[in-house]
Amino acid sequence: MLKLEPKPTTQVKYNYLDQQFAHVDAYFEDLRELVKSGEFTLGPYVEAFEKKFANYIGVKHAIGTNNGTDALILALKAAGVKPGDEVITMPNTFIATVGAIVAAGARPVFADCDERLQIDANKIEAAITPRTRAILPVHWGGCSPDLEAILDIAERRGLEVVEDACPSVGAKVNGRFAGTFGKTSGFSMHPLKPLNVWGDGGIVVTNDDQANEFLRLYRNHGLLDRDHIEIWGVNNRLQPFQAVVASRVLDTVEDHIEARIRNARQLDAGLGDLKEFIRTPARPVNNREVYQLYLALATRRDELVRHLVARRIEAKVHYPIPLHLQNAAAQLGYKRGDFPVSERQADELITLPAHQFITSDQIDYILNAIRSFYLG
Ligand SMILES: Cc1ncc(COP(=O)(O)O)c(C=O)c1O
Repeated sequence: MLKLEPKPTTQVKYNYLDQQFAHVDAYFEDLRELVKSGEFTLGPYVEAFEKKFANYIGVKHAIGTNNGTDALILALKAAGVKPGDEVITMPNTFIATVGAIVAAGARPVFADCDERLQIDANKIEAAITPRTRAILPVHWGGCSPDLEAILDIAERRGLEVVEDACPSVGAKVNGRFAGTFGKTSGFSMHPLKPLNVWGDGGIVVTNDDQANEFLRLYRNHGLLDRDHIEIWGVNNRLQPFQAVVASRVLDTVEDHIEARIRNARQLDAGLGDLKEFIRTPARPVNNREVYQLYLALATRRDELVRHLVARRIEAKVHYPIPLHLQNAAAQLGYKRGDFPVSERQADELITLPAHQFITSDQIDYILNAIRSFYLG
């Protein structure tokens, strides 16, 4: 057995997986059943999880995939995105949003983000061209963009909406779950997402029967059955082992989200009198945020991160370089200055630990450390 070096102790950790999975007996019991069944390729465990997830967020169909990136690629394809099409998204997201558009054969077109760090619905129409096929809004960091405005644009301009809900299982807008607004949506079950597995996993959801049919075929080689191939497909299947883990995690996801919301409120309240130094995004009352990332905008950001890390608080930056300025985007022809809001925010963004295992005392410790940095 591979022995890992013990990790140095950290005062406020960003990664909570050892705490979340400290007691694994129930998982191992479930996995023992799976192993006994020999159902290692799709099958009843994946189907049961798909149904459970579809019921949880209130959609007709959920289709398990290898990971969130695959879920987005499949979601785009199922929504009819073809090579040569353009898909509008924002430049201050994780690379996978844009990587999925490129992998689907389409061209990513950016619209800047707003002060809530979400795609700015007011900037989308200017990015539409005759080649635009879809809008891919991201529920960035566990928060949601202005979906009402985005759906309205899509309807008026004859475009599809495909949601990147990868970080945001459990987020809601007007009481409706993220991922239930678009024609298709992708979720990630990466370990640091609200619904997480022991490695990689993803889910595509849709209310559209035709899209569902395509998705189920495409993620499994286009196989109708063992001997009949309906379309050319790939192997993007969710592993039954991960479906078993996900199914049990789903039972506690609401508790974890509520704990994150409590932590985020304590941070928001504690940062309230430091607004001239560090700002949190506006929190619309109709949105339920799940705080996959607790994001704030800080002056002297890099110094603040160093100050916190020196006090053993694992602050992070998501992300310091917007995607239109990455080498990978060179062929898209963007330059610095094209998306001023995303560019400014890339210099200010800081992610503070706010996950479900952080205690109220630890949050006070973070707040005191920030206060001492700005106020001495
Ligand atoms: C916004 C966004 N899109 C897509 C992904 C891709 O998900 P995965 O890592 O499961 O491929 C992630 C997370 O990693 C994400 O945060």
